[in-house]
Amino acid sequence: MTEVITSLPRWRERTATLRASGATIGLTMTMGALHAGHVSLFERARAECGVSLATIFVNPLQFNDPEDFVAYRMDLTDDLDVAHRAGVTAVLAPSTAAMWPRWPAPSTTIRVGEIAETLEGADRAGHFDGVCAVVAKLLVLTGPCVTYFGEKDFQQLCVVRRLVADLALDAEVVGCPIVREDDGVALSSRNARLSAAGRRTARVLHRALDAGRDALARGGTVQGATAAMRSVASEEPGFQLAYAATVDPATFGALAEAAPGEPVRLLISGMVEGVRLLDNLEAVAGRA
Ligand code: PAF
Repeated sequence: MTEVITSLPRWRERTATLRASGATIGLTMTMGALHAGHVSLFERARAECGVSLATIFVNPLQFNDPEDFVAYRMDLTDDLDVAHRAGVTAVLAPSTAAMWPRWPAPSTTIRVGEIAETLEGADRAGHFDGVCAVVAKLLVLTGPCVTYFGEKDFQQLCVVRRLVADLALDAEVVGCPIVREDDGVALSSRNARLSAAGRRTARVLHRALDAGRDALARGGTVQGATAAMRSVASEEPGFQLAYAATVDPATFGALAEAAPGEPVRLLISGMVEGVRLLDNLEAVAGRA
């Protein structure tokens, strides 16, 4: 069975013992509500590092909307079962009081700067400051490791890379491909909050990204790709677009243009039935 640890000092000890025995730790941080996307990270960690560890903690510091925090599904028993079947050796599942003793009073957060303040960061004030605080704390507690992040939250992945580089945290950050349903919808714990109709509406994100990718591949401009995504989004009545954007995948900087052959990342986010969904796709600028 997967070992469950709730005490932070015990986690520190356990991870130190594993390393002392020669193991490389592959760490996946989660907020529970585990699905096949998380499983792909756990399995990759195990395949590449030998030891796959996970954290399950719903981090209140990253919810700019308190209702979102309350609506978040938590079922530790189910999650532990998923982790166990995916070969996770041990899970850290601390209480909020153990992680953030002062919460709901303000706790320490970390601002990495501009890349955390656009797109998701602009629409969700303080979100990435809370993500960075918990990620930094969990990496410090775990010690040297390889840490696995899904590309579905592409901005989060870029922000975490910046955090790790700026604070010289002893972790290698590995980005892993998005896991999708057969109809293209990216797996997300938030999908469970959609009705069957909402779930069908959610396909628009992937359709819009495909349209953006095709526009670029035909030699269109970055602005043309963004416009193609917006146009598809506007035709779906149940979808309220938050943003459609094209960024440099290495820096997360906004792109004004892309040279033929240059890889870009297309991003989209919006609301379906009051649930915020996001998705992204790698694309390559074609020949003009
Ligand atoms: O992506 C998530 O689930 C969370 O943002 C993370 C990285 C576990 C931090 O709470």
